[in-house]
Amino acid sequence: MNLQITYGHQEQEPEADVILTFVTEQELQADAETGLALHPQLDDGLRQLYARGVYRAKPEETYVLPTLGLLPSPFVVYIGLSSEITAEKLRLAGAAAARAVQPLKAVHIRVLLPQLLVEGAEQYGTATAAQALSEGLILGTDSRQAIRREAKEGPGLGSVTIIPNDAAGAEIAAAWEEGIRRGQVYAEAVCYARELTNRPGNLLTPEQLAEEAEQLGAELDIECEVLDEWSAAEQGMGGLLGVGQGSSNPPRMIVLHYEGAPDDPTVWGWIGKGITFDTGGISLKKAAGMEEMISDMGGAAAVLGAMRIVGKLRPAVNIVAVIPAAENMPSDRALKPGDVITTMSGRTVEVVNTDAEGRLVLADGLTTAIQRGATHLVDVATLTGAVMVALGDVATGAISNNPELMGKVRDAGERSGEKVWELPSYAPYRKQLDSDAADMKNTGGRLAGTITGGLFIGTFAEERPWVHLDIGGTAWLSRSRGWESKGATGVMVRTLAELTSPSN
Ligand code: BES
Ligand code: MN
Ligand code: ZN
Repeated sequence: MNLQITYGHQEQEPEADVILTFVTEQELQADAETGLALHPQLDDGLRQLYARGVYRAKPEETYVLPTLGLLPSPFVVYIGLSSEITAEKLRLAGAAAARAVQPLKAVHIRVLLPQLLVEGAEQYGTATAAQALSEGLILGTDSRQAIRREAKEGPGLGSVTIIPNDAAGAEIAAAWEEGIRRGQVYAEAVCYARELTNRPGNLLTPEQLAEEAEQLGAELDIECEVLDEWSAAEQGMGGLLGVGQGSSNPPRMIVLHYEGAPDDPTVWGWIGKGITFDTGGISLKKAAGMEEMISDMGGAAAVLGAMRIVGKLRPAVNIVAVIPAAENMPSDRALKPGDVITTMSGRTVEVVNTDAEGRLVLADGLTTAIQRGATHLVDVATLTGAVMVALGDVATGAISNNPELMGKVRDAGERSGEKVWELPSYAPYRKQLDSDAADMKNTGGRLAGTITGGLFIGTFAEERPWVHLDIGGTAWLSRSRGWESKGATGVMVRTLAELTSPSN
């Protein structure tokens, strides 16, 4: 993804292939006195389409008009906007616009900013609006790139200039520039997470995921520590090693250390599930759809994406980011149902189902984060299929032991437009994990699978404030939607990053 967004007229700005402009329903009504004014004939044409019910200017509804020589740009794309503007509506509008210009093979587009967006800025903040619109434009342009013998596509959308309809003051211009910059950093990090997640299992083994983290650390000046299988054994990481032992691609424990507030006792622990492929192990998954399990490192990608934002924006917080990475394979060496393993925390686990592997590696992930000083824990994991039954592919399921931290994650999700829904963690659920063979077993049966999976992980939080985010339904989509792409979505990158914003 290489889309550059700028504000204001640029020297040497290329002629736009497309003029993008916002339109509200009110502006299209026959008696409307304000609005439009792009060109009298085009305005009239659009009003006629509205009058005939062809174009209603509903939110995210777009319409392409060829300008037939009336304007220097060959096309105008109108994008519907409701007059009640929020950051999320702008993000969705940006993505809808990006998708609408794609078939036109536009390389440079110009976005005309209506007065409504600049004027109404007080309710949602000018920089927030700029960020949201930029995120939408970039995320809506991004999609999975197949690995092919020959590239299929042309250059694609390269640059966007955002131009206010009426000259805006220097303060507003500065806010737009700041918001665009943040939006660009946020969205590019999501694209990075999506690309990692879309990468096939043969091209992204635990070792290769560790190399990616090392490269990210080197690029952004963040310390990166990688434990190989021998160091992991020294540290007693029985969960990580148990899951990884079935594969000839050995596991890795990846740790990134970011210290932006040395005097602050708060240290975030972000732990991302990094199963580079999940066959289920000896409790083998069915064949249909198993290829989607390349996305079982979506939590790891979310954490790396969020660390990319942190590395670029350098907020005054401390973070220990941990990625337990392993490949879950069946083999003569693999874990078997009934095996008892000892985790890094000393707790023993009866493995009744080798397909409940995420919680085993995350157990050691949480212990690693705590050992390295984390005080507040957030784990992100494609943990259960059950979360899809409960919340579909719409919302990420959350489990927590701390209402205050849960509230912060919920607020961060709201700001980023990523839906997070808390599930209850009543005490009786925990009993489903009781084992006759060990301290606990790794599955609680069919009932409330997302909750018991979360509670298993929570045991390893050692009473520290903790939130578990189950992205089993949201990390991967079978079709694109709003600013999310088909395949990997990069969900939770922006929510995690928002946790570090000063408003939290
Ligand atoms: N990675 C899967 C969960 C998953 C499945 C996410 C499908 C997204 C789509 C996880 O490791 C798993 O297999 N979970 C089991 C748990 C069960 C054995 C308790 C599941 O959900 O079936
Ligand atoms: Mn599994
Ligand atoms: Zn899994």
